[in-house]
Amino acid sequence: MKDFIINYPSNILPTDITNQILKKSKSISYHRAINNYKKSPLHKLPALSNLLKISNLYVKDESNRFGLDSFKVLGGSYAVSQILKNKPNIDVFCTATDGNHGKGLAWSAKKYNKKCIVYVPKDTSKLRIKAISDLGARVDQLKMNYEDTCNYAAKISLKMNWELIQDASWSNYELIPAYIMSGYLTHFIEMEETINKLNQPDLDIVIIQCGVGSWSASCIWYYLNRYGKNKPKIILVEPVESCGVYQSLYEGRRVSPKGNLSTIMAGLNCGIPSKSAWEIIKRGCDGVIKITDTEVMSAMKLFYNPLLDDIKIISGESGAAGLAGLIKCLNDNKLKKLKDHIGLNKDSRVLVFNTEGKTDKNSFSKIVEN
Ligand SMILES: Cc1ncc(COP(=O)(O)O)c(C=O)c1O
Repeated sequence: MKDFIINYPSNILPTDITNQILKKSKSISYHRAINNYKKSPLHKLPALSNLLKISNLYVKDESNRFGLDSFKVLGGSYAVSQILKNKPNIDVFCTATDGNHGKGLAWSAKKYNKKCIVYVPKDTSKLRIKAISDLGARVDQLKMNYEDTCNYAAKISLKMNWELIQDASWSNYELIPAYIMSGYLTHFIEMEETINKLNQPDLDIVIIQCGVGSWSASCIWYYLNRYGKNKPKIILVEPVESCGVYQSLYEGRRVSPKGNLSTIMAGLNCGIPSKSAWEIIKRGCDGVIKITDTEVMSAMKLFYNPLLDDIKIISGESGAAGLAGLIKCLNDNKLKKLKDHIGLNKDSRVLVFNTEGKTDKNSFSKIVEN
């Protein structure tokens, strides 16, 4: 199988409940009102752009969002705020996570003085578990993979009457994932003061990493809703061993990944893509690139060891996947068809996201110091 797949999007958004919720999102005002809110930085890396032979490389750096090391809290916090409007007496929030989403939910539950129970799969690292429990949540590690852990959390929440705040949707579970996706819109709106300009973005290509796909679907939704067919080209990046969207585009239907689910990119090591995210992704993404752990480690090091006057960026294993995908597309001749499909060349202005910082400082140090 190839390391990429080309998609020919209709660029027409679905008109479902997710779309309605996204259209009504007030996430930016919600987040701005939080005490320690700070817009995450948008860096320009001229020296790295030069090295890569593109016109501009922008990096939206989420490594310090609300002091939590990843962007994920944008979704969970907004969903919690919306659900509490209708159900103020909720006692317990529950979720399954491979780290970042659970940390964001624990932080949000604590803010509203609610209990939080978080299930993590067998591979979640001790430090990531500790980061969640340090925020007051009960964390149970199951001897299961991510997808089975999600199913477990859904079942037990129903039985115990806990409120499940899951960042992926399935049949009859769409409202909360839609609120989560609405929360992610905050960081796209933050760029309206810079590159996401009114009539035309100062951008040609966006390269984003993907787990269950909710975040990349928010990105696609944002750009399609705002610019229609003039949206930038959007490429998704997945780990070779856990590539549910690649496999789904390949088979033309939403399916679980076929790989061995073993990767250092914990945040991207998910199962079947989210149902509502898939509806947006297949209509708006221009392709998918699969990357290896070795490729993402090189990208982490590039961020960590800046060239000339570029800024140093602390980027974790899932955080650097977008940059790794860009480099692969530029340098690997086997991806030439995709490169031509999206018009990636010396004039391209490209946006990637650093979606997490040092979420496991031991493994981070081992990688960047090697
Ligand atoms: C750091 C990081 N980046 C990207 C993603 C991908 O988000 P999604 O699962 O919505 O595709 C995740 C998911 O947890 C993540 O933790």
